[in-house]
Amino acid sequence: MKQRLGGLLGGAAVLSLMAGLVLPSPAAAVMVQGYEIDDPTSPTVVVNKHRPLNPVTHVPERLTRIKTEQLHSDAAQAYQRMVKAAKAERVNIVAVSGYRSYDHQASLYDSYVQQYGQETADTIAARPGHSEHQTGLAMDVGNTSGVCALQDCFEGTPVGAWVAEHAWEYGFIIRYPKDEQDVTGYKYEPWHLRYVGPQLAEDMRFAAEESARTGTQPDIDTMEEFFELGPAADYLY
Ligand code: DAL
Ligand code: ZN
Repeated sequence: MKQRLGGLLGGAAVLSLMAGLVLPSPAAAVMVQGYEIDDPTSPTVVVNKHRPLNPVTHVPERLTRIKTEQLHSDAAQAYQRMVKAAKAERVNIVAVSGYRSYDHQASLYDSYVQQYGQETADTIAARPGHSEHQTGLAMDVGNTSGVCALQDCFEGTPVGAWVAEHAWEYGFIIRYPKDEQDVTGYKYEPWHLRYVGPQLAEDMRFAAEESARTGTQPDIDTMEEFFELGPAADYLY
């Protein structure tokens, strides 16, 4: 795993400071653990209830079509490689929901509010401007049979089990793990894959394994924990 830098500066910034060079300009990107987490065009951006997309109406520049869905081009390439690898093991990953625009997310969120009320809706769908789907970096996946679609039991299906074990190898994480609602603000979503790139996926996998092995509390199963951002269970408004 990359060296923890114990704070907010990325490797290049730390080197400049050590060499007595000027401080990074205020406009420079602030890196955390060497990763860019603010820029919505970065595969390592952290989006949650405390961290809306900036701008909230952000639209990804390059989207690639995957069947009925779309993903950010880099994520799409990795996704296609993952689908191929799973298929070779007779596991057929189906793309259920990828890129969603601000307006699409707004209508989805509103429909959940109508159906379940706002409190529950906020635990299963993001408000517009707060969804990873709007970055083009998230894909909800399913099985061809549709079994356990968007339900907890998805984890025990062929696709659910396969992605839990292998998605990280292609740069994806299970973004809303089980028992982490107090950190992420969302119920368990074993179907929601978030592309973070191969390096961060590997670093997060390593951190999760290490925290499980050593019993570190809190464990490190989420982007919030990995980047030490604090929980984002509820909106600030
Ligand atoms: N279901 C996830 C949290 C979303 O709506 O982005
Ligand atoms: Zn999703």
